[in-house]
Amino acid sequence: MKSIKELQQIIEKELAGITYPESPADLYTPIDYVLGLGGKRMRPILLLLAHQLFNQNLSAAIKPALGIEVFHNFTLLHDDIMDNAPLRRGQQTVHEKWNPNVAILSGDTMLVQAYQLISEVPSEVLKKSLDVFSKTAVEVCEGQQWDMDFEKRDDVTIPEYLKMIEYKTAVLLAGALKIGALSGGANEEQAQHLYEFGRNMGVAFQLKDDLLDVFGDQDKFGKQVGGDILSNKKTYLYLQSLAVSEEAHKEELQFWFSSKEHDRAQKVNAVKALYEQLEIKKVTTDSIHEFHQKAMTHLKAIDGDKSGLEQFAAMLLQRES
Ligand code: IPE
Ligand code: IPE
Ligand code: MG
Ligand code: MG
Ligand code: MG
Repeated sequence: MKSIKELQQIIEKELAGITYPESPADLYTPIDYVLGLGGKRMRPILLLLAHQLFNQNLSAAIKPALGIEVFHNFTLLHDDIMDNAPLRRGQQTVHEKWNPNVAILSGDTMLVQAYQLISEVPSEVLKKSLDVFSKTAVEVCEGQQWDMDFEKRDDVTIPEYLKMIEYKTAVLLAGALKIGALSGGANEEQAQHLYEFGRNMGVAFQLKDDLLDVFGDQDKFGKQVGGDILSNKKTYLYLQSLAVSEEAHKEELQFWFSSKEHDRAQKVNAVKALYEQLEIKKVTTDSIHEFHQKAMTHLKAIDGDKSGLEQFAAMLLQRES
């Protein structure tokens, strides 16, 4: 069984081995750029960890794992346009370094390439794997649209928020695990437990992302801290603050999240101070642990050496980037 570190090295090496045509440069250079910026490579590692629970020979899972990472990076190119984000993995985002049209078209190409790579799964699980992937990809778009819709709404509920992050983020972790399980020869029940493990881990993962977006260290996080506040994102932190605060705090929060123009730094600092006063960090961390626990019950339901997945899930809880 390969360790997480070994799996990550395999992914890095294989990704670096993908070459793109020289022309048109503004189509292919941004793909090379974003894939070369690093990142945790979490989704392909999850796919490989799931595969090796059932099959030690990883060769059939490498291409699909790369496909999942290319798909993830495609979503980042488009997400950064939608979120007006200047930084990704500590470097300029593609739409800033080039322009939004370049980020759109390079992203589109990556989506197609992701399909090509995932189609390299063993033929006996091809249809099933593509079905999982297609369903996942559409759900990511649904989640992303809700995320955008919620920026403009002031009546978003916590269940709506949880469904939104399940779709925009968690299903891709879940789908990666399921495809890895299928390529490794798992039965439907085992594959579904891994899917549910990923879905719950993914919700915990996005809650932590929302937390780091406010309280993280920008150098480690690699993204602009305060970005969600500036975009009026209805994150768990915001919704929980509204749920627990007195009328005066509520009004202040709603003032900062109104459509009015605000000084950016002043807005981020004021909202952060409110979150601190309301101890929202603790509320969010508690919720992260709950979803983590739920995820673990699905892992317990399957046999085999699950130490890699357990270790990986624990790392995601501790992460600062
Ligand atoms: C960023 O994903 C997008 C979210 C779903 C929060 P990651 O945090 O996995 O980003 P990288 O790939 O490690 O940079
Ligand atoms: C990411 O949500 C979801 C997708 C990229 C599909 P975020 O917008 O929170 O991700 P980051 O924080 O920009 O990585
Ligand atoms: Mg974003
Ligand atoms: Mg976003
Ligand atoms: Mg985020």
